[in-house]
Order: sequence, then C-alpha cells, then structure tokens
Amino acid sequence: MANAQGFQHTSRLKDCLARQAAEHMGRIADQSGVTVERDIDMRKEASDTWDRFDRHPGYQEIRLIQEVGARLGAGNPFFKAHEGVAGATTRINGREYINFASYNYLGLSGHPSVSQAAIEAIGRYGTSVSASRLVSGERPLHRQLEAALACSYGVADAIVFVSGHATNTSTIGHLFGPKDLILYDALIHNSVLQGVALSGAKRLAFPHNDWARLDAILTKRRRLFERVLIVLEGIYSMDGDYPDLPRFIELKKRHRAWLMVDEAHSFGVMGKTGKGIREHFGLDGRDVDIWMGTLSKSLASCGGYIAGETALVEHLRYRAPGFVYSVGMAPPMAAAALEALRYIETHPERVARLQDNGRLFFTLARNAAIDTGYCAGFAVVPAIIGSSLRTVNVANLLFQQGINVQPILYPAVQENKARLRFFISCEHSAEQIRRTVDLLADEIARG
Ligand SMILES: Cc1ncc(COP(=O)(O)O)c(C=O)c1O
Repeated sequence: MANAQGFQHTSRLKDCLARQAAEHMGRIADQSGVTVERDIDMRKEASDTWDRFDRHPGYQEIRLIQEVGARLGAGNPFFKAHEGVAGATTRINGREYINFASYNYLGLSGHPSVSQAAIEAIGRYGTSVSASRLVSGERPLHRQLEAALACSYGVADAIVFVSGHATNTSTIGHLFGPKDLILYDALIHNSVLQGVALSGAKRLAFPHNDWARLDAILTKRRRLFERVLIVLEGIYSMDGDYPDLPRFIELKKRHRAWLMVDEAHSFGVMGKTGKGIREHFGLDGRDVDIWMGTLSKSLASCGGYIAGETALVEHLRYRAPGFVYSVGMAPPMAAAALEALRYIETHPERVARLQDNGRLFFTLARNAAIDTGYCAGFAVVPAIIGSSLRTVNVANLLFQQGINVQPILYPAVQENKARLRFFISCEHSAEQIRRTVDLLADEIARG
C-alpha cells in the first residue's frame, strides 16, 4: 500500500515538474518571434530561471526524490558517517553494523602495516607534495609505486593520478579526438563516459559483454575512423560479472583497435594472487593496451593508475591534463598503496578468503531465489529488488537489524532494476554472510 501511494506521489510530483518545464519551454518558444515587449518578458523569465541554483533541473530532481522519500518515511540512505575504519564491520551513530558498503575488499584500509607506511611517509615528506609532479611535486614514492604496478601487470610502465575517476576522464579525454571511435560496454562506469564525452570521439555502446555484436560493429565501421578504442571493466561495478576477455583481445587484434580494461573492482579480487582479470584468464599483460585501475579499493588508498607500454605512459606523463595540471599524489596515499601492493604479494590467502566469501554470499543468495542479475560471485553481489522505493525500504529494514548496505537507485540503474549492492570483504565471517542473506531473503519475501 505504502508503495502504491509512493508511486502516486512520485507521478504527481513528476507531472507537476514536467508541466512547469513544458510551460517554461513554451513561453520561451513563444517569445522567439521578437517584439520589444516580449524581449523584456523573456529577460524577466530568464532572470527568474537561469540565475537560480534552486531552479536547476538536476537540483529539482534531487529535491523531488528527497521529498518523496520524506513523505514515505524512507529517509535519506546516503552520506552516513562512519565513525572508524569501515571494513567488514563499521560503527555508525554509535552502533556496530555488519558492513557491505565499502570497497575495502582485502581489509587493508586500517591494516597496521599499511597505516604505518602512510605515517612514515608523512613523517618524511609531509601530507602534500603541493605541486604537479611535472614541476616540483615528484617524490621517490611515486615512481616506486608506478614500478610496482607495472610489474604486477608485466608491462613496461605505469602512471598514477590523484583520482580513479580523473584517471579515466583525463586519459580517454586526452588520447582520442573527433576522428576516432570509442566503443564501450553498455554498463561501463561514469568515469569512462565522461572521458568519452570530453574526447569528442564518435561513441557507441555495445550490449553488455556481447563481443559478437562488437565484432559486427567493428566489421562495419572500423575503416571509417583513425584510432578505435574498446573499453571494458574487469568486474562490472553494478552487476558483479566480468567479460570474456580473451574473446575481446582476439577481436581487438583482428580489427586493429586498442583495448582498455578498468580494473577498479577486479584488481586484488580476481586471480590466484589478486592480480586481476589478467591472472584469472592467464593472459600476457601486453595483450591489453591500456590497463586502468583505482587505488581506492583493494589498494586501500586514493587515486588511479594507467599501466601499459612506455609510449603510452610517457605521453600521459607530459600531456594528460588531470596529471600535468593537478597536484601529485599525497605521500601517505602513495605509501599506503605501495605497502598494500606488497602486502597482497606476500599474503595471497587474503585474496583466497575474499573469493571464498564472494562465492558463499552469491551461492546462498541464489539458493534463496534472490535476483543477483549477472553476478559471477566475486566481490560485488547485487540483489535486484525492483523499484527505488522498495529498495530503500529493504535497505532501511536491514539497517535496523544491524546490516549496512547501500541501495543503488535510478538513475544509476534502470528504475525497475534498483538494487542493494553488497561489497564483500575477506574479513567477513561465514556467519555474518549467512545471517545477512537470511535477513535479506526474509525482507524481500515480505515485500
Ligand atoms: C569501474 C570504476 N571505475 C572508476 C571508478 C573511480 O574510482 P575512484 O572512486 O577511485 O575515483 C570507480 C569508482 O567506484 C569504478 O567503479
């Protein structure tokens, strides 16, 4: 009943906003046949609409969602403040929760040896390098981290940026232009889409994981463009599945395209020793042209990287705007990522535990008839609930029972595919996972 009312509210508010927008557009259209008087009207209308942040459609959409949430008592599921390290458990408002809302997959954020490395780096270099690395922001830690990343991929070099999102935006935005074509999986991350838009290249999404459709597109269109880039994720962040990478490598070679793989959620997660999708499939690192990853997840830091051949990395080092015109990575962040990388090398048992936990959560959820979509049972397990409202309700009910999980709502996913996204940690116990899936199945069944 509450849901039905919710939809009435939602559609009424939506209608109201749509009417306001249509009226507004109509008024402007009317005024395009210019008389002085109408010009004055238009200026009045413009000053009411175009210089007010609260009239921005993006803001109005947020307010609409918040209003509906408040009327239905769903509350705001975002911006919860964690009062300590957020790992397999966390503390929010003084209460302990089993936590499935952080990407601390290997439990290395908050690990003593990683924290110690960051503290030592602060002691030696301070908290900021205060300049772009190109001018005076370079520290030995930066190159040590990049060498270690390149080594993990078995490629010539790597470069680190201060943000994972900026890594994709700046790299793709810089390397490609209007004569190029970028083909990306339909479920690709926003940071890739931003880079594609910035580049001005011709862009096309191909259906999720559908290498055969991609092959057909390339057969038809490759010759119309100069450079062609294909972009995939190692593990898809909203769905928890992965591409058949060898197939994509075969076709990118045949069509003379470049292949980029975003390993934000697969590095540290896939492969026997956590070296990602490359290790999972037993591939040569040089089979992929542009390896991208983030330092914020398994590597317990903040930032992103590109790994590949020397000409690629050196080009970015001197030209990528997000690197050249931005500060170098903060010393404690570089030190933390470097120590996390070393730690994973010597502790593959953490990776094995993470994989066991992902498999356990996924198997239990599937057995309980929870819709896990395309999930392959690694560290990201979605539970697809349906409407945004119902998803927020289930998240709230779980929260009341001591489980913290983030709802993913429209527009991040389709409105009928709103979901709870469970991020698994190697530090979750089997007991925590079983309890969570049991409660989740109960709440979903209760509707
Ligand atoms: C697939 C993917 N790429 C890039 C990013 C951006 O990384 P960061 O949050 O480290 O900036 C994310 C963030 O979650 C992601 O999921």
